[in-house]
Amino acid sequence: MKTSSSSSHAFQATASLCTPYLLLVPLGLLAVVVVIPSLGSSYVRSDGLGVLCRGGPAADGGLHLVAPGGDAGGAREKEVVAAAEAVARPEFRLLVGVLTTPKRYERRNIVRLAYALQPPPVPAGVAEVDVRFVFCAVSDPVDAQLVALEAMRHGDIVVLNCTENMNDGKTHEYLSAVPRLFASTPYDYVMKTDDDTYLRVAAMVDELRSKPREDVYLGHGFAVGDDPMQFMHGMGYVVSWDVASWVSTNEEILRHNDTHGPEDLLVGKWLNIGRRGKNRYNLKPRMYDLNWDMDNFQPDTVAVHLLKDNRRWAAAFRYFNVTAGLKPSKLHLQHQQP
Ligand SMILES: *[C@@H]1O[C@H](CO)[C@@H](O)[C@H](O)[C@H]1NC(C)=O
Ligand SMILES: *[C@@H]1O[C@H](CO)[C@@H](O)[C@H](O)[C@H]1NC(C)=O
Ligand SMILES: *[C@@H]1O[C@H](CO)[C@@H](O)[C@H](O)[C@H]1NC(C)=O
Repeated sequence: MKTSSSSSHAFQATASLCTPYLLLVPLGLLAVVVVIPSLGSSYVRSDGLGVLCRGGPAADGGLHLVAPGGDAGGAREKEVVAAAEAVARPEFRLLVGVLTTPKRYERRNIVRLAYALQPPPVPAGVAEVDVRFVFCAVSDPVDAQLVALEAMRHGDIVVLNCTENMNDGKTHEYLSAVPRLFASTPYDYVMKTDDDTYLRVAAMVDELRSKPREDVYLGHGFAVGDDPMQFMHGMGYVVSWDVASWVSTNEEILRHNDTHGPEDLLVGKWLNIGRRGKNRYNLKPRMYDLNWDMDNFQPDTVAVHLLKDNRRWAAAFRYFNVTAGLKPSKLHLQHQQP
């Protein structure tokens, strides 16, 4: 496989990170369960619930590349990448928060694979990208158990202090929690996206690379009047760390009860009023909605949205050649790619 000598650890931390987090808070008021790493558990060392450590460059498993082409995890290709390459600091760090709900296990599984099997950004190590699934508090005891399993296995779950079932403040809670949760290891950019969006991380990284690291608001611009980017569409947008920090400390937003309603529009409203996110970038048409007939995929896609069912996810994987590298094996039937 061509990509296997480069490193998917570009997604991964290059620095060692080991952070204890509060867990075991009563259900429903679960403050913050944050567990660290993500893509591919070979990167993750778990020291038990609540403390997950990311293996540093020297840690075993820290440098494994899991390449596409495995079958059911059985024959995955692993490759050790040169340590020197791994220690280099990335140009920037991006947190991708996929807002979802606990019960969407099947979708989350697909989305997790979608991120894990992506080609790494080029050049290798340019960016460190962490993908997390973001919920409000898990109130159902069954879900709490099952989500705990995911947190232990994948380490990619973030639980916010909010109540699920509302289009009501979750985005605000996310943007304002992140600067607190990751205060000790700030990101350069914070992205909000949904579980019906296929984000092509390398393409997004490539876009961000040349952008300022501050006062950024980037996504699929939504025009209002003369303003082509009054706010960014909820399929996915990026703010720089300073903007997220500003949101997290801005009491006016809460005081004006400005967290209820169409959340993504409101993000634009806060920033417009506060004159933040002035470095604004519209990635339209590279971020777009998939149409009904599923025939508007584009090769230079940054993000495609409205992948609302498995059929549409399958179409995206097919179009972007995600499974093209599946190696022949006697362990699974060879299906023709339709
Ligand atoms: C969660 O949010 C509620 C309501 O906003 C607040 O009263 C409570 O203190 C928060 N809990 C934590 C642990 O932050
Ligand atoms: C905030 O807005 C929501 C929805 O419009 C409403 O239900 C709630 O009562 C408001 N809260 C305050 C404190 O005004
Ligand atoms: C998928 O692979 C085909 C055949 O190699 C190629 O023509 C096409 O451009 C690829 N699609 C994308 C989106 O890269």
